[in-house]
Amino acid sequence: MLQVAFTVHPAMSFGDTLQAANALIVGASQGIGLGFVRQLLSDQRYSRIYATYRNPERADALFALQKEHPRLQCVPLDLTDEGQIEGAIATLQPTTPQLHLVLSCVGLLHEGDLQPEKSLRQLNADQLLRYFQVNSIGAALLAKHCLPLLKHSQPSVLAAISAKIGSIGDNQLGGWYGYRASKAALNMLFRTAAVEYSRKSPKTILALLHPGTTDTQLSQPFQRGVPPEKLFPVERTVAQLMAVIEQLEPADSGEFFSWDGSRLPW
Ligand SMILES: NC(=O)c1ccc[n+]([C@@H]2O[C@H](COP(=O)([O-])OP(=O)(O)OC[C@H]3O[C@@H](n4cnc5c(N)ncnc54)[C@H](OP(=O)(O)O)[C@@H]3O)[C@@H](O)[C@H]2O)c1
Repeated sequence: MLQVAFTVHPAMSFGDTLQAANALIVGASQGIGLGFVRQLLSDQRYSRIYATYRNPERADALFALQKEHPRLQCVPLDLTDEGQIEGAIATLQPTTPQLHLVLSCVGLLHEGDLQPEKSLRQLNADQLLRYFQVNSIGAALLAKHCLPLLKHSQPSVLAAISAKIGSIGDNQLGGWYGYRASKAALNMLFRTAAVEYSRKSPKTILALLHPGTTDTQLSQPFQRGVPPEKLFPVERTVAQLMAVIEQLEPADSGEFFSWDGSRLPW
């Protein structure tokens, strides 16, 4: 009897393919984004790293890294301005027509008078719009403009830092209307973009990532009730999320992952 032997090739994860990679970290002036830049600079598989900042007055740490590392280039970008997204892409495209990792670490929870709402009485249309502009729409426009650079013969990843609090199925506590809703919208926008990317750029994996409560200026006013073992230093969060990113396979595109690699409910 004729026997045919099949060799089963396990799917390659993103990390298996990393070599001479180019990365773009958006929202890198502080917090988790800055931590990712530090991590990538210590990883020789990345040959070029672009990092964006919004306000030069808050980007000293990033500029200091650029002075030390010629592989790093800082690019100004306010993610709420589509023209600036186009400008940032136009800056890097001539020297770097291919990107392998694009990661949006942009997020807003509080900003001056804008504070997370505790009740319906505090809902305000301008504040809700601001949350959506920064937390949802910006990353979707990034997905729009990065497609030509992520579409090439090698695997690539486009990830956005979301938040478990944006999970509709997991919402038992209520409150924080704008932040929750804007992260849920981010999840839907990325999930939808993943469907389109699967047709137009099938080697790109889109992912939404929950970092866990991390010690940054964003969480700082709300850390009081958090047990110390559940408040991650930035370095730990970055290492955990990097492990999740490296394990991504094409079948994972459009999914919502927690810091330990588990899938979160929508
Ligand atoms: N920390 C946590 O516990 C936690 C938990 C769950 C999810 N997250 C998510 O994780 C991500 C990173 O947060 P983080 O804790 O690192 O906060 P962070 O320290 O406040 O960093 C946020 C970054 O986003 C940038 N940014 C804000 N608005 C922007 C805009 N319009 N255009 C461009 N950049 C903008 C900030 O730039 P500036 O320096 O100019 O302000 C900063 O670099 C966010 O998406 C956040 O929602 C954080």
